[in-house]
Amino acid sequence: VEASGDFKVADMSLADFGRKDIELAEVEMPGLMSCREEYGAAQPFAGARIIGSLHMTIQTAVLIETLAKLGADVRWCSCNIFSTQDHAAAGVVKGNTANVFAWKGETLEEYWWCTAKAVTWPDASGADLIVDDGGDVTLLVHEGVDAEKKYEATKALPDPASTDNAEFKCVLAIIKASIERDPKFFTKMAARIVGVSEETTTGVHRLQVMADTGKLLFPAINVNDAVTKSKFDNVYGCRHSLPDGLMRATDIMISGKKACILGFGDVGKGCAQAMKAAAAITYVTEIDPICALQACMEGFQVVTLEEVVSIIDIFVTSTGNKDIIMLKHMQQMKNNAIVSNIGHFDNEIDMAGLEKSGATKINIKPQVDAWRFASGNQIIVLAEGRLMNLGCATGHPSFVMSSSFTNQTIAQIELWTNKSTGKYDKKLYLIPKELDEKVARLHLGKLDAHLTDLTKDQAEYIGIKPAGPFKPATYRY
Ligand code: NAI
Repeated sequence: VEASGDFKVADMSLADFGRKDIELAEVEMPGLMSCREEYGAAQPFAGARIIGSLHMTIQTAVLIETLAKLGADVRWCSCNIFSTQDHAAAGVVKGNTANVFAWKGETLEEYWWCTAKAVTWPDASGADLIVDDGGDVTLLVHEGVDAEKKYEATKALPDPASTDNAEFKCVLAIIKASIERDPKFFTKMAARIVGVSEETTTGVHRLQVMADTGKLLFPAINVNDAVTKSKFDNVYGCRHSLPDGLMRATDIMISGKKACILGFGDVGKGCAQAMKAAAAITYVTEIDPICALQACMEGFQVVTLEEVVSIIDIFVTSTGNKDIIMLKHMQQMKNNAIVSNIGHFDNEIDMAGLEKSGATKINIKPQVDAWRFASGNQIIVLAEGRLMNLGCATGHPSFVMSSSFTNQTIAQIELWTNKSTGKYDKKLYLIPKELDEKVARLHLGKLDAHLTDLTKDQAEYIGIKPAGPFKPATYRY
């Protein structure tokens, strides 16, 4: 790991490769490039400090450099221990556009160290804006403020030994060290933060709970539920990156195999489509009758895990929920069944149970492990149960990430340019439909798609404006 300045990445000698790959990605990211053209001269982020916690990939590098070209002072960490592309991290550092703290294969302690470094500017104070993916920076700030309040009242420092949760132990250790340095670091940071824009379903769930209980300390924009995010990235992104992850990790022939996608939401729909397209016999599990019926209409067999656990070759969890594949399931699986998760957190698969089960772990290569049970059967677990498309492959392709990240850029501009207008309260907001439609429009040219113009007469007939929005808020796409 290299750190000869205010950054920490795996290997700076990868920077030139990173730059070439970033340049290739730029061509595939028309939304971000047009943000640079439209807003570059105005420098809307002048004076803004942005902390990003989002998979440090090549596509994210193009987002980071867009935010920087619009005037922001950017610090970045990844939101998963396995998702960094080291050449992307090095390329950004060498390009001098952001201070990056990220490498592929961080320990949990290193992950939270990187997060803490990224949120702390050299003058020892915090950020103005957060780009979050999964909500870890938002969580750190909120937990930090709570701990500082407790410390002020009782002088009791957070105690990492008070929890069994390995991740939360790291969070408490970071906050403890921070209070020892400055007992008001997170309180001051929260007061300074103009807002957060959140990338993913799981992070939005966390924000919704905070907003509903009145605990949210700053405004939040839900990027995930922009149509041009969740109906594209979650679906078509995973449709691309699930088979990519499976093939890079195991090289297994998917055709003719039996695949089970657990959860048929946006991500599950893309995953199931990919398995069907690769000619796997595809099963789906769901708790929601609407999603289950949708799966039926697409020709998938809806089952419970218990019904099929012993015949499936490839398992993929995509629920955003916990405890989906448990040890008892893994013990009933076929020899060499592949067990993987594409949801945000690793608690969809009972890794703790597997570790305690007495099964022998045989590392095959980075992010691919066989776990052999006493019966002699083994299963193949990808990325230690963490999101496999970023752990075992390189995540979604640039074009679909351009759509997601154009929404991120728009959300950040909205928050920052409205910092004194009172437009955003300490609540969770959606991206306005006009802007959602604009994001889509920015991506049509690259695909040589030609929109039909609505006539004034037609617009009146269906009761909309010729320039949109074209659908009511209730429309589900
Ligand atoms: P979603 O809410 O659209 O879908 C989740 C589905 O799982 C729902 O239909 C729900 O009914 C179902 N479900 C919940 N509990 C279940 C259970 N016990 N058994 C079976 N089904 C169950 O959410 P979305 O957008 O599909 O996201 C899923 C996860 O993937 C989230 O954690 C999200 O953050 C993450 N994500 C990961 C991406 C990646 O690149 N790896 C990209 C986008 C999202």
